[in-house]
This record gives sequence, C-alpha cells and structure tokens, in this order.
Amino acid sequence: MRHLLEIDDLSAGELDEVLARAEQPNLDPVLSARGVALVFEKPSTRTRNSMEMAVVQLGGHPVYIHGSEVGFDRRESVEDVTHTLAGYHAVIAARVFEHARVERMAAVDRVPIVNLLSDAAHPMQALADLLTLRQAFGDLTGRAMAYVGDANNVARSLALACGAAGMAVRVACPPQYGFSDLDTDRLAAAGVDVMITDRPHEAAEGCDAVYTDVWTSMGQEDEAEQRQRAFEGFIVDDSVMAVAAADAVFLHCLPAHRGEEVAASVIDGPRSRVWPQAQNRMHAARGLLSWLLDVR
Ligand code: CP
Ligand code: NVA
Repeated sequence: MRHLLEIDDLSAGELDEVLARAEQPNLDPVLSARGVALVFEKPSTRTRNSMEMAVVQLGGHPVYIHGSEVGFDRRESVEDVTHTLAGYHAVIAARVFEHARVERMAAVDRVPIVNLLSDAAHPMQALADLLTLRQAFGDLTGRAMAYVGDANNVARSLALACGAAGMAVRVACPPQYGFSDLDTDRLAAAGVDVMITDRPHEAAEGCDAVYTDVWTSMGQEDEAEQRQRAFEGFIVDDSVMAVAAADAVFLHCLPAHRGEEVAASVIDGPRSRVWPQAQNRMHAARGLLSWLLDVR
C-alpha cells in the first residue's frame, strides 16, 4: 500500500515512472467501476477538476465531498471517515488544513491516500510542475529553479521535487517567511542544493525557471495585511525575469494575484507556462493514480 502525502514519498525512480505515465493519454482503465473519494476542506479550481477528470480518464467515478459534510473530528473521527470511505473507494484524496489529518488517514492503511494540499505540502502540484519543466527542458539535471515569495506548502514540495530531479533550488523570501528548521533538515537530508536569500534578483540570476505563489495561503487570511507589508518587493516582475537565463520560464501554481506576487506582464507574457502547467495537473493526476493502483 502506497500513499502520497509529500512528493518525497516517491523515490527518484518512482517519480520518473509516474511522469512517464502522465505523458501517456491512454493508460489501462484501472479504475473501471471503481470510485475515488475527493474530500475538500478548502476551495479548489485546478485540484478538484484535474483529479475528477483523471479519474474519469482511468474509467472510474469521482465523488466530491465537502469537508463540512464529513466533519473530520466533529461529526466523526478522521479514522472512522477513512475506514468508511475505504469500503466504497479505491483511493481517498483529501485537501486539509492540518497535514496531520492526511497522516492519520494514511495510518488507517486501507486504500492509498493522496494529499491534495495541506498546510505543509502540495505534492500533486509538484508532480505537474516537474512535468511542465521536463516539457520545457527535457532532462532537468543541472538546471536551477528560483522560487520567490512565501516558503509555503507549494515551495516545500517544489524544492523536494526539483532536488529529486537533480535541479538546484534558490529561494528568495523575507527571513521570517522562510523554511522551518525541520524543512531545511529534510531538504538537506534529501541532498537538495538549496540557497536562501532575501533578494529576488539574487535567487533568479541565471536560473532556468522562476516560480511564485500567493503571499497569503488559504487559512492565513487573518495575516493578509501583515503579509502584504512583509512581502513588499518580492514581486516577480520583468526586472526579475531579466536576470534569469535567456530561455527561462515562469511558473505559478495559481490562483494568482497580478500586481502582488507577480506582474501581469510576466504571468501573461511569452515566458509564462502557467496554462500548460495548470493543464498538466490532470495528466500528472492520471499518471499518479495509475501508478498507485498498479503498485498495490
Ligand atoms: N494550484 C492549485 O492547487 O489550485 P487550486 O487551489 O485551484 O486547486
Ligand atoms: N499556497 C497556496 C496554494 C494554493 C494552491 C495555499 O495553500 O493556499
């Protein structure tokens, strides 16, 4: 039984296998007459739709469940919800506030659990990010990724994914919004070459890709004003892209706020790959689900 709670649950070889499957439009219909439960405690555009369509493409039936409907630890425990859903579904996927919730679901160990974003990680996004980078550059060994902004769930999974693909990672963030010591240790243990700075241009210098995400993640709305102030100057604009490599691409997990973390001229400009990146969420999800059901 395999779960995907963070991208480093997959070895580098397994990542290759999942991404190879993601490139195949006609995989075996491993979900034929089977269900996948998709539990969402937070809103979603890309994750819900890409997962639902990936399930359909594998012959299965997705069931969307709003978090308030199952009421984790209010109506019944996370474990009891998981046991019950595992009786109907081949896979359970969940977007949660606390990462510990997906860990508790995985501990039930009845069907594979997929993390659809927690406060700590966004592995399904990282899979699509790697797919998009491979489509742009082929082999990623020796390439460099610059992440500018909040060292959040997306940044952490991205850094682990890029490290596994042989890329160097440069992160520009205000000092109080950097990786935790635990994250830094995990990245170091994984052998990821990470450089941290508080200067976006320094991070982007010569890099092959520049990535950013919102300054205020879902669940942090109370901190929005303070974050706006702290991240002033961390916008990815044309001056940041200008110091990156000549063929560098711009990536963003979306949703985006033009004029905050990214300039409209960048996200809507010729170096932006955000639309193929968003569409790759579906291909990555199909590859992952196909692999998860085959390795059981
Ligand atoms: N990138 C991403 O996860 O988008 P959604 O929040 O819309 O699912
Ligand atoms: N960091 C963002 C990502 C959204 C896809 C959040 O957690 O809200």
